[in-house]
Amino acid sequence: MTLHDRYLAVPVEGAVVRCHYVWLRDNCWCTECRVSQTQERKLCTASIRADIAPESVALDDDGTLRVAWNDDHVSAYTAAWLRTHDYSDQARADRRLEPVLWDATFSVPTFEHDEVLGSPQAQIAYLEAVRDYGVALVRNTPSVLGEVERFAQEIGHVRETAFERIHNVRHDPSGYSVAHTPAELIPHTDLPGYHWPPSIQLLHFLVNEATGGDSTVTDGWSVLADLRAEDPAAFENLCRVPVPFQVFSDDEDTFATVPIVELDTDGRVRTFRFSNHLVQPLDTHFDDVEAFYAAYRKLGLMIASDRYKVVFKTSSGDLLTVHGHRVMHGRLAFDPTSGARHLQDVYMEYDDLMARRRVLLGTHKPMPAAPGVA
Ligand code: OGA
Ligand code: ZN
Ligand code: ZN
Repeated sequence: MTLHDRYLAVPVEGAVVRCHYVWLRDNCWCTECRVSQTQERKLCTASIRADIAPESVALDDDGTLRVAWNDDHVSAYTAAWLRTHDYSDQARADRRLEPVLWDATFSVPTFEHDEVLGSPQAQIAYLEAVRDYGVALVRNTPSVLGEVERFAQEIGHVRETAFERIHNVRHDPSGYSVAHTPAELIPHTDLPGYHWPPSIQLLHFLVNEATGGDSTVTDGWSVLADLRAEDPAAFENLCRVPVPFQVFSDDEDTFATVPIVELDTDGRVRTFRFSNHLVQPLDTHFDDVEAFYAAYRKLGLMIASDRYKVVFKTSSGDLLTVHGHRVMHGRLAFDPTSGARHLQDVYMEYDDLMARRRVLLGTHKPMPAAPGVA
């Protein structure tokens, strides 16, 4: 084991893990530093002295690291905990899960309703499909009003919006949305008028007997990856220029002015919104307008092309899940006189679905750092 100026290099299971002193001290798991009842932190990070350093360090035979600190405190860290929390670039890259990008050749992963709700393994497989591909189809969902809400409550929580909690989509000449007409809906994401649009959408086809109305799904992150490679300046424009989006009805309103693409701190796409029918007049720097339109046109033509769009006809009882910040959904025009077509949507949050997966796997609680602490 090597003590460096501000960090320790610890042998862990044949490798070396580097940990800063302040990071180790901050993660002490003793009863003084943790709320034993809840395993939450008690130690206030700001109270750690700035020159925190070990007075002595030792490794047990089982690889447990023991540190006596210069603030008269003693901490212990198991080898398994140190390995799991290794924050080297390599370890972080190994832990990172990449989305699986897809195009028009993709087949939407399909599951059976009763299995997803009846078996933890099937539910985990469904949740992992949503995680990896941003889309999944659940077949044979009972064609009962409100069934989509029951499904949502099994796998997470309904996200309320300004509009109906359970959103009815059927031909309705008084409806407030183009979805209530029989017209085509080109690929889009819903509710872009929120700064944080719902990150999951469930579309439950209660009855789908009209002619036409085939569904489409398009991987927005896949389109963006190609645009970014082919025309980085266009991509940058879509990340920078704010676009006003509005969804409104007679008595409700949502309005947000946000770039089409938002990146996370690693520069990866985090949110993507694309809703041609809901864009309001651009209100940005005069000099940005034409470059924005050029980038937006390029993106729109890619989305409209046959390269990315998966087209399929849903049956009554199909429940489509889409990641609302990634995958666009749409439908072809339908003939409302040819048969009934009624779907119910609910919105949810992706975080809750991923949490559900961790709970089902039993991996959601933090691993104690100290040996013998439950
Ligand atoms: C929606 C929507 C698609 C359809 O409900 O958000 O886009 O198939 N509808 O009607
Ligand atoms: Zn402690
Ligand atoms: Zn929609």
